[in-house]
Amino acid sequence: MTEAASTDCSSPLDRVLVMELVRVTEAAAMAAARLVGRGDETAADDAAVQAMRAAFDLVQLNGTVVIGEGERDHAPMLFIGEKLGAAQESGPAVDIAVDPLEGTTITAKAGSNALAVLAIAGKGGLLNAPDIYMEKIAVGPGYPDGVVGLNKTAEENIAAVAAAKGVLPAQLMVSVLDRPRHAELIGKLRAIGCGIQLLPDGDIAGVIATSDPDTTIDLYMGSGGAPEGVLAAAALRCVGGQFEGRLMFRNDEERRRAHDCGITNFERIYRLEDLASGDCIFAATGVTDGSLLAGVKHRQRKDGGEVQTTHSVVMRASTGTVRWIRAEHKVG
Ligand code: FBP
Repeated sequence: MTEAASTDCSSPLDRVLVMELVRVTEAAAMAAARLVGRGDETAADDAAVQAMRAAFDLVQLNGTVVIGEGERDHAPMLFIGEKLGAAQESGPAVDIAVDPLEGTTITAKAGSNALAVLAIAGKGGLLNAPDIYMEKIAVGPGYPDGVVGLNKTAEENIAAVAAAKGVLPAQLMVSVLDRPRHAELIGKLRAIGCGIQLLPDGDIAGVIATSDPDTTIDLYMGSGGAPEGVLAAAALRCVGGQFEGRLMFRNDEERRRAHDCGITNFERIYRLEDLASGDCIFAATGVTDGSLLAGVKHRQRKDGGEVQTTHSVVMRASTGTVRWIRAEHKVG
C-alpha cells in the first residue's frame, strides 16, 4: 500500500453498489441494536462484524479490507487484507474501510450516535491507516481552501473560520471528543469563548456534523482514531468540507505498524484527497439515535413478527448525491 491514497483510480464503482452498500450497514446496525444498553461492548461489536461480513458476501464486488477490525492475527473477521464480495474474479476491484460498530461503548451504555459505517473506493483510493490516533481538524463546505490547518494554533484556526463566516470567534461551536488529552485544547477554546460540544465517543459523526447545516457545529478539533479519520474523510469528500489529519505515534510499535501499512513520512499532514481519493461511496446506518441518524427501532407486528426500522445515509463523491433512507425490515 502506498503512503497516500493513490490518485490513479478511475472509478470502478457502479451506481448499483450505492444501494447494495446500504444493505451492508443496515445489517450491521440491526445486529448491534439488539445489544444496545446490555453493557457488553464486545458482544455488540461481534454481532455487527458478523452481520456486516455476511452482508458483504452478497454484494457483487471484489473487495479488499484496508481499514478494518485490525490485523488478521487479532481479528477473526473483517481484518486488514481480507477479501470481501461475491465477485472476486469478475467484480470491480475496490478497497473497503469498515467500522461495523462506531461507538461500542455508546452502544453498551445506550448512548447517542452509535453507527455502522463503511466506505469503498477504487484500488488504492483509501489510505491504509493503522489503528492509532490521528490529530484532526475539519470544517464544512463554503470556506476558502486552507482556512484551517494542523500547522496553525487553535486560536488561529478559530479566528480564520470566524472571519470567513463573518462572526465573532466566540460565536463558533466546536465539536471535541471529551477526553483528558484534550484539556489544553478545551481550555483554549473556553478562553476564546467558543461553544464546545463534548462528544463522549463517535468522532465520525462529529466530523460529518461540520458539513450538516442542520447542526450548529462549525469545526471538529482534536484527536481520535486514524481509521475513523479515513472514514470521515470519505464522507466529507462526498458532502464537501475540509479536513486535515496527522498520525500521532506513542511508541515505536505504532511506527512499525504504520510502516507496515506503507507509511514512511510520520510527520505528514493528510488532506481529504490523501485519505480518500477518486470516486468513493460512504454509507452509515444509525444504531442508536444521534445527530446524523436515528437509531434502529423495533416494533411487534400484529401477526407476532417484528419490524425493525433503520435510518441510513449513503453518498457518492463523483456525483455528490446524498441519499437518506428509511427502511422497514420484516424480521421473523
Ligand atoms: P470504538 O467504537 O471503536 O470504541 O470508537 C469510538 C471512538 O470514540 C471513535 O469515534 C474515536 O475516533 C475513538 O473512539 C477515540 O478513541 P479513544 O476512545 O481512545 O479516545
